[in-house]
Amino acid sequence: RPSMTLFEAIGGEPTFRKLVDEFYAGVATDPLLRPMYPEEDLGPAADRLTLFLIQYWGGPNTYSSQRGHPRLRMRHAPFRIGAAERDAWLLHMRRAVDRLDLPADHATALWDYLERAAYFMVNVMEDP
Ligand code: HEM
Repeated sequence: RPSMTLFEAIGGEPTFRKLVDEFYAGVATDPLLRPMYPEEDLGPAADRLTLFLIQYWGGPNTYSSQRGHPRLRMRHAPFRIGAAERDAWLLHMRRAVDRLDLPADHATALWDYLERAAYFMVNVMEDP
């Protein structure tokens, strides 16, 4: 169905939950990323990212009803995100996307967005 959202096409909420759970399993073991998360329990952060991605890809707007406008760059301002943090984030996300075993066109669409968004979130200038 041409009008299907990517949210629907890849299996709805359970697929996004799986993606983010795999991603956070990686973050939990990452020496650079884990200390950046203010809370002991990564569950609430995983829930926020899941709801955001669901909303972005055409699913229910639960993220905004709970958190308001995403303004993601502003929400990331308290964290130092340089190339190393971005690349670590993308490494765990790449593994999580691969684990979904999606058809190539959906995997590519999802990944292209995540990669662009991660580059956009970098908020410190570094020497080349
Ligand atoms: C929140 C790190 C990229 C989406 C957070 C938090 C940290 C963080 C430490 C706070 C945990 C929490 O309270 O939720 C990073 C790092 C990134 C990155 C190091 C590397 C580039 C991204 C990208 C997206 C994203 C690319 C979206 C595609 C979110 C969302 C939240 C969040 C939705 C919760 C915002 C809220 O409602 O408060 N991130 N992030 N992040 N991040 Fe990221």
